[in-house]
Amino acid sequence: MNTLKEKFDKAGQGHVFKYFDTLDNPQQDALLGQLESVDLDELNHLNETLVFAKNADAGIDFAKLTPAPYIPLPADKTTDAKWQEAKKVGEAAIKAGKVAAFVVAGGQGTRLGFNAPKGLYKVTPVKQKSLFQVFAEKILSASRKYGVRIPWIVMTSHINNDATVAFFEENNFFGLDKNDVIFFKQGLMPAVDLNGKIILESKGKIAMTPDGHGGCLRGMVRSGAVAELKKRGIECVSYFQVDNPLVDIIDPYFVGFHLMGKSDMSSKMIAKAYPLEKVGHFCMLDGKLTVVEYSDLPAEYQEQTDENGKLKFIAGSVAIHILDVAFIERLGSSTNAADRLPFHRANKKIPFVDENGNQQKPEKPNGVKFEMFVFDALPMAKNPVIIEGFRGDEFSPVKNAEGLDSPLTCKNHQKAQWARWFAAAGVNVDTDKNAVPSIDIEVSPLFASNQTDFVEAWNKLDPKPAVKNGLYLA
Ligand code: UTP
Repeated sequence: MNTLKEKFDKAGQGHVFKYFDTLDNPQQDALLGQLESVDLDELNHLNETLVFAKNADAGIDFAKLTPAPYIPLPADKTTDAKWQEAKKVGEAAIKAGKVAAFVVAGGQGTRLGFNAPKGLYKVTPVKQKSLFQVFAEKILSASRKYGVRIPWIVMTSHINNDATVAFFEENNFFGLDKNDVIFFKQGLMPAVDLNGKIILESKGKIAMTPDGHGGCLRGMVRSGAVAELKKRGIECVSYFQVDNPLVDIIDPYFVGFHLMGKSDMSSKMIAKAYPLEKVGHFCMLDGKLTVVEYSDLPAEYQEQTDENGKLKFIAGSVAIHILDVAFIERLGSSTNAADRLPFHRANKKIPFVDENGNQQKPEKPNGVKFEMFVFDALPMAKNPVIIEGFRGDEFSPVKNAEGLDSPLTCKNHQKAQWARWFAAAGVNVDTDKNAVPSIDIEVSPLFASNQTDFVEAWNKLDPKPAVKNGLYLA
């Protein structure tokens, strides 16, 4: 205890012991355990570079920035020779059991304001299925289609792990084999106040927050998930976020392009819907692929067009990647600073104890949380491949309670996707000017999880149900 206290005193963080003598033994032990996990040198460095640094810009030389190349969507990928070749390669890898699914679900989802892990949020229009159920059914459907076990790694945090695991258990893992669902908790970082002092959340506890989605790389290694995947012969994982029910989790085209490109880490891009859309931009900088956040890219770059009037920086990042297990292992276990993901700061409202020992919930951001971003691995990846995806089939995240990227927009995008599938099968569903059906319909991933499979499954139905409000195909 004394040496630990000296270390914290020396680092200017001795205040974390302020209430130590008032705690009982188990509380003291718990606090000491927390403090032992803090890397004070790292924290000091983060304070210097992210909290006290005056120059808050991203340090990018914009004159050197160019749009990243990508493989564009062909007019019809079901007939395009290159895409068909990729599909074949991808299907072979999936059938050989080399691909796993990986969702990052450790975020706090503060914008949605839902009082439970975000994966429990109900998103589908008719059956009100949760995000986790939609993903589980997509994985189950792929596993049946390709005749193979597809492990699913679920990254949680210390805040939401127990509720997440309990939800899967209560729902019998939505039909998946429970041995194929592997949970792990992501790492933690101490949160500091605006003066760089570690925040005491209560008298016997410092505030520790999840280390960002980029924490998944070291989390996968430390938790043993990488070792488990290697034992199962998995070579790459399909990475997605918990808020996007449209994601095509086991996409043979994407897997195929990743493998054909001998890539460490591949990405899907979608064309920005409008110049200032709030997404990251795939760019090249000094010969390396990098994602530049919309908040770091000046508007004049976001709006630049080429000679045909097309947006130059059009490739929006939607946080859909394929990562090689060997690449995750290399970065996640590296002690070499050049191979480690950098931290970013996020200002947050962090509960704390005040001078009088009373707990307070701040109304506005009072502290800084340190996070890593998974896309920062791209500049370190060999041969990173980017392929274009079609927004309506890939991306509609639930981020906010209302407005853009909300439960309502997401529901509408799901319905619009199914209406397109019906149209491809020759069935007209009335839609509004945004191509959203006026009735609620729902297609289970277990019926079909893409248009081609839908048309085939629909054609086999005899008799066919009436397409009316409340139709659910399973
Ligand atoms: P967001 O950037 O949307 O963050 O996460 P968030 O914490 O979920 O939500 P807000 O900003 O508080 O509203 C994008 C994805 O990354 C995961 C989230 O669960 C989501 O799938 N994530 C984020 C983690 O797994 N861990 C983190 O520490 C942060």
